[in-house]
Amino acid sequence: MMESLRLIFMLSFVTFLVKGDMDVAKTIGRLQLAHELMRRDISNFDKLWISLMIKLDNLETELEIIEKNKVYNIVNGNTNASLSSHEKLNDNLHNTTMATVHLLLKGFKDEKLKVKSLNKLLQNSLRDIEGLTKRISDHDGQFTDLRAHMSLLDEFKDKDEQFNENIRKDFADLVKSNYDLSQDFTILNKTLYANNCENENTLRKPTFVSEWILIRSQDQKFGQKTIPHGLGEIPYKVDVQVRPTFGSNSGWIFSGDSAMQSDDDLKDEVYGGVVYFYDSSNIYIITPLKTNNFAVGRVLNTGENKNRRLGNNHQASNEAYVRVKVWSPVDFPKPDIESEWFPLDTDNPSRAYHELTHGLNEYPGLVNVQTRSTSKNGENVVIFEGVGTSTSYREWLNYGGVVHAFDKNYVRVWVAHHDAYLSNSIISILGGLDGWNRQLLNDIDRSKGQFRVLVWNRSKLVSSRRNSKFEQIEENVNFPEWSPFDKFSPETDLLSFYVQANDGLNKGFRFPGSGNSQSTGPSSFGGVMYAYNSNGDIRIWRPNPSIDGYMIHVYEPFGNGNNHQRSNNASFVSTLLRTNECN
Ligand SMILES: *[C@@H]1O[C@H](CO)[C@@H](O)[C@H](O)[C@H]1NC(C)=O
Ligand SMILES: *[C@@H]1O[C@H](CO)[C@@H](O)[C@H](O)[C@H]1NC(C)=O
Ligand SMILES: *[C@@H]1O[C@H](CO)[C@@H](O)[C@H](O)[C@H]1NC(C)=O
Ligand SMILES: *[C@@H]1O[C@H](CO)[C@@H](O)[C@H](O)[C@H]1NC(C)=O
Ligand SMILES: *[C@@H]1O[C@H](CO)[C@@H](O)[C@H](O)[C@H]1NC(C)=O
Repeated sequence: MMESLRLIFMLSFVTFLVKGDMDVAKTIGRLQLAHELMRRDISNFDKLWISLMIKLDNLETELEIIEKNKVYNIVNGNTNASLSSHEKLNDNLHNTTMATVHLLLKGFKDEKLKVKSLNKLLQNSLRDIEGLTKRISDHDGQFTDLRAHMSLLDEFKDKDEQFNENIRKDFADLVKSNYDLSQDFTILNKTLYANNCENENTLRKPTFVSEWILIRSQDQKFGQKTIPHGLGEIPYKVDVQVRPTFGSNSGWIFSGDSAMQSDDDLKDEVYGGVVYFYDSSNIYIITPLKTNNFAVGRVLNTGENKNRRLGNNHQASNEAYVRVKVWSPVDFPKPDIESEWFPLDTDNPSRAYHELTHGLNEYPGLVNVQTRSTSKNGENVVIFEGVGTSTSYREWLNYGGVVHAFDKNYVRVWVAHHDAYLSNSIISILGGLDGWNRQLLNDIDRSKGQFRVLVWNRSKLVSSRRNSKFEQIEENVNFPEWSPFDKFSPETDLLSFYVQANDGLNKGFRFPGSGNSQSTGPSSFGGVMYAYNSNGDIRIWRPNPSIDGYMIHVYEPFGNGNNHQRSNNASFVSTLLRTNECN
């Protein structure tokens, strides 16, 4: 492609020369002569400045020597003289000499300053001259090319006019057909390529994937990140990955959460989290930072503290790497459902629960519930992706989050209603700022917002060509490690983990797993934590039932009591969307 483009360019250039060859030749000659003269001037100029600079340098050195000697001679000479033969020198002479010397010295100093600034000026001028010389020699290169083309033309000129005219036409035709050909080829290639991808009918690679970026909890500076994704529109899906920098979970990938569900009030209650949200320009990452009580929040916390979660390889760390994967709308097939934005409001019980029908009659390939909240001045909008569980509750706790789940036909969305139950806890739809690196969210109105639901039919996202597993279900939840998939690419593919209720009001509904143990007691609490590796293995930390922990946990104030549930009768579900190579 590049070669043919270049050919087109050259041919059209030659055509242009054929038309006005004589004028062009003259102009080139004149320009080259002018450049030659300029070059000579510059070179003379250059020499002049250099010799002047050397002279000035010498002058400065001389001045310095003179100055040193004078001072030495006058001061010391006079002192010695006035000491040794006071009578021979009268005061008058002494004073006059001193005055002269001072005047001279002042003069020398001024000269020196001038020399210095002149020197600087010279250096700059020389640099400018260098640049100019380079540009002229670039131009000369172009002239040489031109000359080559001209001599090509001279050959044609020897032939008769008609022949010349024919050649010109041939050139023009050639240029045009070459251009048409390349256009056709581009369209053909595009069509073929697009068809290929449409037939493939899967999720494409994320438009934006960041590097691994170091973050630290309890660190003002490294505890928050703004990562530009460059989409210029709201992403359809964001996956935030968290990788330990050391320890027994090195090489395993945890996930960011999208609500702040704990605070820093209790000394012994370690909580965790990497919380993410975004807008049409950036992904924002925040981590725990003590606000007014205890620095117990970590970026990574599997919940070993107080035996809160069962599992192996427990870890609590202040440091980790994060990577964000951002899928733009063009990376997805058209969603089967892209709902309007519905209101959520912690102050209004009728806006604390929603049930939407997607009606696919099968578990979708992907559901994304996006919640947006606006700054108090209305200028900023942030998007959160919600969570799959409500955590614990107590007096004065700052908590919240948009809890959601889906089954074969419905999507359910809960937020806590403010006045229900504990009046002294502080509820919001995105969670509390207490104990978090809060700066980026300070001006956001977290009491209300709107959500929308994106749903994709699984046959739209899952490759029918590749014979790989998309969904695995495991009923035996009493184990800490599971291997549902084969090798995959955590950098471009999307692994999701859910807990599916086997009984109760939400039977059959799938609640997203948690990336961190956020709960701070004392009360019932929820959330199954998971981490995965590129071999398709999953590590699981589930709430300890013997201390009131539940895999399914939608506490009563959520949804103002609609379909609230605590249950440990649940299965694990994981889905893996492998992206294709089309983009
Ligand atoms: C000045 O006099 C002192 C003492 O007599 C002597 O050490 C010194 O070298 C003299 N300096 C000059 C420059 O003659
Ligand atoms: C020389 O200078 C000193 C100190 O400034 C001064 O006291 C003295 O009167 C001056 N002598 C004459 C003759 O000006
Ligand atoms: C065909 O299109 C694809 C996708 O845009 C591109 O990557 C590829 O380089 C094109 N092939 C040629 C030969 O131009
Ligand atoms: C899902 O999408 C596929 C492909 O577009 C279509 O054939 C199928 O009917 C859809 N299924 C549902 C339940 O809408
Ligand atoms: C889970 O719930 C299902 C449906 O109600 C029931 O059949 C099953 O026995 C329950 N399992 C346990 C372990 O309670």
